[in-house]
Amino acid sequence: MSANPLDNKAQAWSALFSEPMSELVQRYTASVGFDQRLWRADIEGSLAHARMLAAQGIIGAQDLADIERGMAQIVGEIERGEFTWKLELEDVHLNIEARLTQLVGDAGKRLHTGRSRNDQVATDVRLWLRSEIDGLLPLLRQMQSALVELAAEHTDTVMPGFTHLQVAQPVSFAHHLLAYVEMFSRDADRLADVRKRVNRLPLGAAALAGTSYALDRERVARELAFDGVCENSLDAVSDRDFALEFAGFASICMVHVSRLAEEIVLWMSQNVGFIDLADRYCTGSSIMPQKRNPDVAELARGKSGRVIGHLMGLLTLMKGQPLTYNKDNQEDKEPLFDTVDTVRDTLRIMAEMVGGMKVKAQAMEAAALRGYATATDLADYLVKKGLPFRDAHETVAHAVKVAIQQGVDLSQLPLATLQGFNAHIGADVFEVLSLRGSLNARNVLGGTAPAQVQARIAAHRKRLQ
Ligand code: ARG
Repeated sequence: MSANPLDNKAQAWSALFSEPMSELVQRYTASVGFDQRLWRADIEGSLAHARMLAAQGIIGAQDLADIERGMAQIVGEIERGEFTWKLELEDVHLNIEARLTQLVGDAGKRLHTGRSRNDQVATDVRLWLRSEIDGLLPLLRQMQSALVELAAEHTDTVMPGFTHLQVAQPVSFAHHLLAYVEMFSRDADRLADVRKRVNRLPLGAAALAGTSYALDRERVARELAFDGVCENSLDAVSDRDFALEFAGFASICMVHVSRLAEEIVLWMSQNVGFIDLADRYCTGSSIMPQKRNPDVAELARGKSGRVIGHLMGLLTLMKGQPLTYNKDNQEDKEPLFDTVDTVRDTLRIMAEMVGGMKVKAQAMEAAALRGYATATDLADYLVKKGLPFRDAHETVAHAVKVAIQQGVDLSQLPLATLQGFNAHIGADVFEVLSLRGSLNARNVLGGTAPAQVQARIAAHRKRLQ
């Protein structure tokens, strides 16, 4: 067997180079510190490539057998933590190829036939991201299920609904939770859609223009379970819009998480007191002995910032790059990896925390009774008695003013007082002014009436089965 050219990479890339890379340049350009995480995808991709090369008669059957044997050994070495990653071999691809050649000789040197690291890395990242997406989809379902199951216990728990963070109208706590289920369900749809565009094979594009070998790209795509190949070699090696889309999904999802986290923090504040969290999701204070802080929710809210930052970073990374591959693209990995890790951990912890949330139904109901949440119901009542809505609105404003002056709720005003605002008001108004009367009245598709909410819970349960 002849010498392994990769052994001398520290000295020079090829015979063309007359001096070695400086230690600083080596460190600056290397990615093996982080991209070794792609090792399994890299080996899977290489094996599919090698099998295709053999089937096409480009390498021999013995070469393929050697490559398969060498790769099996490398998998074992990496899994056992025995593999030595070398900075001077720059990245995951060259590290694995060098070790393969060390183990099996010339067959290892034939593996890179008809391939470039440009189509190789694009393939690895897509394979890796696809499997991460497949891990995230069930977590999004868990998150939804946790919310749906909590909602099922609270279709009759009334809380104030807010606009402008001012008490607006009564809603059930279940209805409020289900709003997030809708959001996470759209996130899951978005992610499944992103997966379709991740799942295309770049391999065969080689450096940028395709290759002169008679490759069977469709075969490689099938073996790696891609839905098809990237149809333009220049696009295949250079664009990372699949990663941008993923980061877009992740940012939107984290914004949804962040809004929920913000509400949990507010709800747990003594000034609101709607919920309590299990101790295991809270931390204490080093100085104030009475404190239990909702750190997990706060961090989930905070981590949305870093995921949105990664999206901005990746967009900025792409925007100035001329076709085709540029080394800039090596910078796509750390933000992408961190995005996946952050979304995964956040979804897991939030689903658990929501599942263990203690709901203080009485405090919610008491809060709904402050702030004249049923004023709209009184206006609607008057409309049904024949008043034009604008007049009804004005009449109720007068009633609310008097109630505020007396420090009571509308439902606590005597019938005679209410009739003073409009003679059509009858004793049936008190049912209308009650929290549950208000809820039941909103029996429109998508509304907060328990019947609607129960139907939606049933639909979600069926979908999430
Ligand atoms: N480590 C490189 C990356 O992540 C692999 C591709 C290198 N290709 C090249 N022509 N230098 O993008």
